[in-house]
Parts: sequence; structure tokens; C-alpha cells
Amino acid sequence: MLERTTASLPAAWYYDPAQYARELEAVWYRDWVCVGRLEDLPEPGDYFLAEVGSERLVVTRDRDGRPRAFHNTCRHRGSTLCTEPRGRFAGGRIVCPYHAWSYALSGELAATPKMQLPSDFRREDYPLYAVHADTWGGFLFVNLAERPAATLAGFLGVEAKNVERWPLASLVSVRREVTTLACNWKVYWENYSECYHCPGVHPELCRVMPLYREGVTSYADSRTAPSPGMAGDMRERVAPGYVTWTLDGQTRLPLIEGPSAADRALGVVFVSFASSLIIIAHPDYVRSVRILPRGPECVELTVDWLLPAGVAEAHPGEIERMCELGRLVVAQDGRVCELNQQGLRSRRHREGVLMPQEAALHEFHEWLKSRLAEVS
Ligand code: FES
Ligand SMILES: [Fe+2]
Repeated sequence: MLERTTASLPAAWYYDPAQYARELEAVWYRDWVCVGRLEDLPEPGDYFLAEVGSERLVVTRDRDGRPRAFHNTCRHRGSTLCTEPRGRFAGGRIVCPYHAWSYALSGELAATPKMQLPSDFRREDYPLYAVHADTWGGFLFVNLAERPAATLAGFLGVEAKNVERWPLASLVSVRREVTTLACNWKVYWENYSECYHCPGVHPELCRVMPLYREGVTSYADSRTAPSPGMAGDMRERVAPGYVTWTLDGQTRLPLIEGPSAADRALGVVFVSFASSLIIIAHPDYVRSVRILPRGPECVELTVDWLLPAGVAEAHPGEIERMCELGRLVVAQDGRVCELNQQGLRSRRHREGVLMPQEAALHEFHEWLKSRLAEVS
């Protein structure tokens, strides 16, 4: 909890294009960023296009099945290589639409048709511009730094342990919803980081999560003791008798194998990897929210609902029910995020002020400032 009145970030940081560009350099072009699921690329040669900030990428799997990512730019004279948002590279070749240079799935320049090569031209000097790519828990990450400061595992750190009992890599996305919000990426991240807004904005969620009625995310910050039998455990949990995040807290889906009895008793476990991935794991399903900046005042959210293979086919009538609450919460958050963005634009508003239960925002702001200082 914050003991003293603390200022928020300067309001202009939420819409100034120059500040946005600084944050892309300081955070988004240096950190591991989640761009999809490995299941989006079932076979070698399958690909999808991704954008991180203003960098356009091709994400594929090479002949050995390893994830690969490249800038969507030809080494000849810089044409865009791929235009379809997803597909499969015929014959395992990435062919430029301009002069038909072709590249292997591992990025090497394979052929340069109908062209007299200069005598000193060496194909091996012109591979695609590679981007680091790796996976964890079935999530596909890229890192645009030439030399990332950490491996993906190092970047994810101990936070990943909170969901290690869920078989994330083998879950499949049974529903994906993509939303674009008219707000800066930090507005969304800040909204995720506090529950001060929960009592007013999320009445349905507050029925499932009694702690949220107090506008906090830990019993340590609450005036209410945790429910009997869970003494000493200060984490967020569903209401007594509730199992998961659905409107009535119940489920007819089979429980996922892996989570412990204690995990199941909580009904929800969160992990977040600033600034592109939040995972909300329940006993019966997992929801992930991917976040990508699309401009100074635009952010794209991709929500996936994940289940063990075969469960959706065996319980087709339950999928809507599983999605309802999460979809509602995303829509409610989206609305207040856009209102927040609009209000930040006032010429009178120079900065906001943080309340005690918004300590996580202050930590986020300090983290961002330190990241910016590293590249200035
Ligand atoms: S720009 Fe790609 S082959 Fe010429
Ligand atoms: Fe919210």
C-alpha cells in the first residue's frame, strides 16, 4: 500500500507519439513479447504475421518444427515479403513478391532467379533479418533485440512457477476474441494492476470474488479475514462454494489434471509478464490475454480460452458459459480504459494521483522510468 500521496505518470505520456516511440525502444523492442500460440503453427512452413509496435514480423516454423521469426522485409530492396495474415509457405520457401528472391524457412537466401549476380555476391550474407523466437507453455514469444538481455526462461522468471502445475503447452484455444481499444497500452496495463475499480465496474465479478468488493487484490490489504480453513493464505480466491470464474461460479467442464487441491480451492491463479501476457488459470479452464501496442492511443487485446484437447468437442454446450464472465470483464475494462484515455487529453490534466490500493501502478511507473533511463 502507498503511504503517501503519489503522482501518476505525466498525462502526455499516454498520447505523445515521441513518448510512445521511446517506450517501444525501451520496452517492446527489448523484452520478450508474446505474439501467439504454437498451435497457431501446426506444421513446418505454416506462418502468421505479427506486429510489435511498428515492426512487422513473419512468424513460422522451420523444417525441424522450431519457431522462427523474421522481419517482414526482403534483403534485396526491402519489399514486404508476406501480405496474407496467415498461411503456409508452398514448398517450404518464402518468396518475395517483387523480384522473387526466395528464402528457406530458416531464413537463408536460397535462390535469386533471373539475375546476374555480381562476382563478389555471397548468398550467405543475405539471410532474412532474424528475430529471436521461443516458446513457453505453448505461448510463442519473440524478442527484437539483437542480443536479448535474458533468455525467455530467465525473462519469465519465478512468476511462471505459479502456473507450472497447469499443462499449458498441451491446452488448445477453443475461442479467440480480438479487441482493439482506443487507449494507450499503459492505460490497459494499469487497469489490470488494480482492483480499486472493481466494486463499481465489475459487479458480476465481485460476486465471484468477494475480496474485490473491497477494491483490493490481497487479503493482506483487506479488512476481511480470509475464509476459514485458508488462514494465512492472503491470495485472491473465489467465494465459498464457488469453483471457477463463471457467472454463477459453477462449472460442468472436467477439472484440468495437474493443479493441486490448494490451487483448485483458490479457483483462480494469475500470472502476468509485463507487458504482453496475462494468464488467468482456473480449475477447469485457462484464459490468456495478450496485449500489443498499436499506436500511442491504440492497444490490441487477444483473449484465448484454453482447454485440454477434446474437452470442447465433448462439452459443446458449455463453451459459451465458460466465456461469459471473462468476456464481460474484458468489455467492462475496455470501456473504462477508453474513458480514461479520453479524459487524459484535457489541457488542464497534467498528471493523476495514486491511492493506497494502487501501489502496483506506482511500481509499474518506476519500472517503466528505469527502463526508459536505460536507453536514453
Ligand atoms: S525486393 Fe524482394 S526480391 Fe527484390
Ligand atoms: Fe477490471
